[in-house]
Amino acid sequence: MSLNTMITATFVLVFVIWAGVAFGSPEESLLVQNLFTDAQYDKYIRPAPRFDVAIYVNFSLGLNVLLDVDEKSQTITLSCHTDQEWIDMRLLWNPANYSGLTEVVVPADWFWRPTIILSNAADGDYYVPRGREILLDYTGRIKNNPPAIFKIACKMDLEKFPFDVQRCTLKFSVWQYATDKILFSPSQDTVAMWSNTQSSEWYIDETSVIGSLYDHNNKSWGKISATFTLRRMPLYYLINIVLPCVVMALLTVLLFLLPSDCGEKMSFGVSILISISVFTLLVADIMPATSDSVPLIMRFLIFDLVFVAGSIVASVFVLRVHHRSKGNLSIKPWMRKLFMVCLPYCLFMEPKTKLSKVRNCQAEIKKSLPNMEEEGKHQTSQLSVFGYESSEPGNKKVQLPPYDAYVDQLREMRNEMNRQNEKDQRHDKEKEMEDDWKYMATVMDRLFLVIGLLAYIMALILMYNETQ
Ligand SMILES: *[C@@H]1O[C@H](CO)[C@@H](O)[C@H](O)[C@H]1NC(C)=O
Ligand SMILES: *[C@@H]1O[C@H](CO)[C@@H](O)[C@H](O)[C@H]1NC(C)=O
Ligand SMILES: *[C@@H]1O[C@H](CO)[C@@H](O)[C@H](O)[C@H]1NC(C)=O
Repeated sequence: MSLNTMITATFVLVFVIWAGVAFGSPEESLLVQNLFTDAQYDKYIRPAPRFDVAIYVNFSLGLNVLLDVDEKSQTITLSCHTDQEWIDMRLLWNPANYSGLTEVVVPADWFWRPTIILSNAADGDYYVPRGREILLDYTGRIKNNPPAIFKIACKMDLEKFPFDVQRCTLKFSVWQYATDKILFSPSQDTVAMWSNTQSSEWYIDETSVIGSLYDHNNKSWGKISATFTLRRMPLYYLINIVLPCVVMALLTVLLFLLPSDCGEKMSFGVSILISISVFTLLVADIMPATSDSVPLIMRFLIFDLVFVAGSIVASVFVLRVHHRSKGNLSIKPWMRKLFMVCLPYCLFMEPKTKLSKVRNCQAEIKKSLPNMEEEGKHQTSQLSVFGYESSEPGNKKVQLPPYDAYVDQLREMRNEMNRQNEKDQRHDKEKEMEDDWKYMATVMDRLFLVIGLLAYIMALILMYNETQ
């Protein structure tokens, strides 16, 4: 290799190095060199003019998305960005000396940065991210707004679920610097919302960012609380749980319209009971295992369950009354008065058509019987005295049976009729008793139907009032 080529290569190398430096924004690199290298910037030292002067660290929160609200573990997860701002006295420059350069973006780990912690984090990640790049301007103001996902513990009051309103607070503080070193203060009094922040399940009613102080170890410490008020949109639960349960409970009322003779009453009621308990399980699955309060929807489901169970019990009684006549029990007078007179009147039911007509008819027959017998006797005697003559002349006399035989026959007929009569009467009485019990069962059915409907509507109104 000749000397010439060596010299050429050296020149090229020097040119390349120089060009590399020169093309990387000379002002910025000069500024960075002046600020950090030449001035021997120490990133572990707080940027205060004196040890007993506190500096401001201003903090605010912006919400990107409400990611999750978990009722069971009582946590919420938010995607946020944190705005941290402070002034570093050591990083001032005159823009005129750097061709008008007013701000520069530099790696964040070149700087002193306060450690901000989220004291109620639920996932063990207490440290608020400190960012990768930081914007620095010529007045020494440092703007650092790294994004972060925060999962916090939030004690939820689910008493009015699904009409509940939750307040969740993120509590930030500065690690190790008390207020004599750092004044940790909010730069805005609400959380900044980005567009599309609203989730489809929760409506963010209001937000607040409040700075406060707390005492610990004879020092006061700054704390910033960012509070979200979240209102649940209940439509999902109304459509998927409440509506089916209302429909099922109203179906239960139909239990009292079902005729007692058809044997489906019990299975109908019990299948509704089972489906409501399935819904209860569904809701219990969402709820945390606390005993603080019973959520409104749970109270509603329990009421539904009790209502259906009550309807089943009532139906059992009605069925019992319906089949009561088998025990040959007659209705007591007060029962008759209550269930055959008063209640049908109150419930706009048709009063019972009695069997008495039939009975009267038979009594009439019975009354007229002796007369008939008398008449018969009379006629027979007449027949026997005067003999029976045919209307046509020349015919022989008809031989008639003797009178006694007639009387015997008649007596037998009469006894037979009496027996038949008694049997009929007994049968009628049984039939009437059976009908009475059945009618009573119908009246009870109607009574329970009205009571059930009224009770259910009242309960719905009460529940509705509680949602307000
Ligand atoms: C921080 O807030 C205080 C008081 O609200 C204010 O005086 C100061 O200029 C703010 N600092 C920054 C860097 O914004
Ligand atoms: C920067 O410019 C000012 C005048 O604008 C001058 O007094 C100062 O010496 C300059 N500093 C440097 C480092 O060049
Ligand atoms: C707080 O201050 C009191 C008196 O001012 C002192 O007795 C106590 O020891 C201090 N506690 C701590 C933790 O410094």
